Amino acid sequence: MNDDVIVIHDLVKRFGDKVAVDHLDLNVCRGEIFGFLGPNGAGKTTTVRCISTLTDFDEGTISISGHDVRRDQIAAKNCMGVIQQQISLDKDLTIRENMISQAMYHMIRRDERNSRIAELSDYFGLGEYLDKQVDSLSGGWKKRAAIVCAMLHDPEVLFLDEPTTGLDINARRLLWDIVRSLQKRGTTVFLTTHYIEEAEALCDRVGIIDHGKLIALDVPRVLCDSVGSITVEYLEDGKTTYRHFKNRQDAQEFASRLETDSDIRIRRTSLEDVFVELTGRSAEVLG
Ligand SMILES: Nc1ncnc2c1ncn2[C@@H]1O[C@H](COP(=O)(O)OP(=O)(O)O)[C@@H](O)[C@H]1O
Ligand SMILES: [Mg+2]
Repeated sequence: MNDDVIVIHDLVKRFGDKVAVDHLDLNVCRGEIFGFLGPNGAGKTTTVRCISTLTDFDEGTISISGHDVRRDQIAAKNCMGVIQQQISLDKDLTIRENMISQAMYHMIRRDERNSRIAELSDYFGLGEYLDKQVDSLSGGWKKRAAIVCAMLHDPEVLFLDEPTTGLDINARRLLWDIVRSLQKRGTTVFLTTHYIEEAEALCDRVGIIDHGKLIALDVPRVLCDSVGSITVEYLEDGKTTYRHFKNRQDAQEFASRLETDSDIRIRRTSLEDVFVELTGRSAEVLG
């Protein structure tokens, strides 16, 4: 059995002369939390929009659960739920009313709809919030409402574009828990982020995208090991310098030979180091 739920082959998307997605090949496995990490303008949203049929593309193929998103658009759409960065719920309606609209869009029968609303409301702890107007909710609750609405037709894959941008740290952690609980239900989650710690904390595998190109793809720890699992951080001529080693012993030997008055830090390599190594740029661009 092929366990790739999303298969992207040689995807190209241009806006005029600008190549927003540049020959992207990517497979996402069923049941994983996949993180698409990259700085602003890297091509994350465009990729999600191409996969979720919100935007057409110039070259390549995309399939979801075996359905080609162009040839078999309705079947592909039925397999996925999408939460865009700017939430597309009707803010004047309550969460329940938004869920009912979603049910109509997906042509779900009333009895099935009501039992889905009850089940999801229970699962995500909506309680009294279910009948609150979306506009009156905090940013974290708005996101939660959007997720619940996108889950109404029980999609196999959920896309979350920058789900925690603009949320405070508590709301962000709560959202991480929700994403983990989606995975426990068997949903495959594809999320985009420019937060390195989010990708590290949450994702089974991470793809790093920069200027429309996939520059790395693996389990976070494996990506870090590929650079060198231990990092020595020190000041050299007033500049923080990083050196990566395959083990702590090599790192310690190197550190003991360093002639510097500054503190030397020996630590595990992070995805931030991987990004800097691969792009030659500061991780600050990731925010
Ligand atoms: N509708 C559009 N028209 C023209 N250029 C666009 C449009 N949407 C995105 N772009 C450009 O494509 C590139 C990728 O953008 P985007 O996918 O939004 O990046 P990200 O989500 O990683 O921040 C950027 O250079 C952006 O300016
Ligand atoms: Mg974006």
